[in-house]
Amino acid sequence: MYIFRVLLAALLAAATGTATLNTRPVIGILTQETVDDDLKPFGKAYIPASYVKFVESAGSRVAPIKLNLTYVEYKEIFNSINGLMLIGGSVNLQTSDFAKAANIFYKLALQANDKGDYFPIWGTCLGFQLLTVLVAGENLLTYTPMENKSVPLNFSQAAYISRMFRTFTPELMKALSQEPLTGNFHHYGISKQDFFQNKKLVKFFSDLTTNVAMNGVEFVSVMEGKKYPFYGVQWHPEVSAFQWNTELAFPHSPNAIWVAYLLADFFINEARKNFHRFSDPKAEEAALIYNHIPMYVGNFSFYTQIYFF
Ligand SMILES: *[C@@H]1O[C@H](CO)[C@@H](O)[C@H](O)[C@H]1NC(C)=O
Ligand SMILES: *[C@@H]1O[C@H](CO)[C@@H](O)[C@H](O)[C@H]1NC(C)=O
Ligand SMILES: *[C@@H]1O[C@H](CO)[C@@H](O)[C@H](O)[C@H]1NC(C)=O
Ligand SMILES: *[C@@H]1O[C@H](CO)[C@@H](O)[C@H](O)[C@H]1NC(C)=O
Repeated sequence: MYIFRVLLAALLAAATGTATLNTRPVIGILTQETVDDDLKPFGKAYIPASYVKFVESAGSRVAPIKLNLTYVEYKEIFNSINGLMLIGGSVNLQTSDFAKAANIFYKLALQANDKGDYFPIWGTCLGFQLLTVLVAGENLLTYTPMENKSVPLNFSQAAYISRMFRTFTPELMKALSQEPLTGNFHHYGISKQDFFQNKKLVKFFSDLTTNVAMNGVEFVSVMEGKKYPFYGVQWHPEVSAFQWNTELAFPHSPNAIWVAYLLADFFINEARKNFHRFSDPKAEEAALIYNHIPMYVGNFSFYTQIYFF
């Protein structure tokens, strides 16, 4: 019955070609194991508040997703949310509880999309890297250091006909190719060479942008699924408007904020095409991030606020 309702709504949306959108989307953000010693005392898992605000800025609510749940519990959450965000951080891409839960959602999302149940996934930094591991079935990351550096993007031809950049004006595309609007905080990435040598990755994703790392290796910095609504950014759009530590190179210029907002807007519009919903209003209310209070950590961490779980 439930699946029937969901599919009917999706079919109606497809048939009418428009109009039917889910204007009350909920994005699930998977929590991640706390590994930083300074942050460990406050919770076993966390989500930096910047990711929550990024999602909220474009008109979505957020449901944090706990680690270590059962398959049945994850499946119920999957059938309740309208998209998934995989955050940055630093845990193992294959053996961590974060990676294991992401793997379950990834498979559910593949199946759903194959059945016409549109379900988007967004990965930022480690989340981007995790998407490459999930698709390739192996860890292909190499050393591509770009720590604390804001840079422009080098666009591929595919970027100009992509979904992700469709609402970007020519002026903003030009600015994004010239101004340091993207904040990078990573040591590993998928090199352009490794991306193009892997048949699974090339088949699954279009490379929209690349960058040259501090060691000279060119890496993929934005990718979008060819068939599936799965998106990855190796850099951090959520920091531009929502993280303020003065010791880090966070881009705060008007164009940087605009770029971040348009990507959030893009992802949430993808989620508005999904019609999953919670079993009842009480279950929805209980699942939302509003039940949690973010903690100010700006005086002892590079983050500004964090939700601990
Ligand atoms: C998940 O389970 C592992 C052990 O199976 C445990 O070490 C870890 O603390 C749990 N994580 C959370 C967030 O509860
Ligand atoms: C863009 O590509 C050029 C040519 O490979 C390279 O010199 C430049 O560093 C790249 N820009 C960025 C920001 O990575
Ligand atoms: C980050 O980069 C900025 C700008 O280049 C620099 O001023 C700052 O010292 C760097 N911070 C760290 C922690 O490396
Ligand atoms: C950070 O600020 C909080 C108050 O917001 C305070 O309780 C805490 O002791 C401070 N921590 C450090 C390391 O200064």
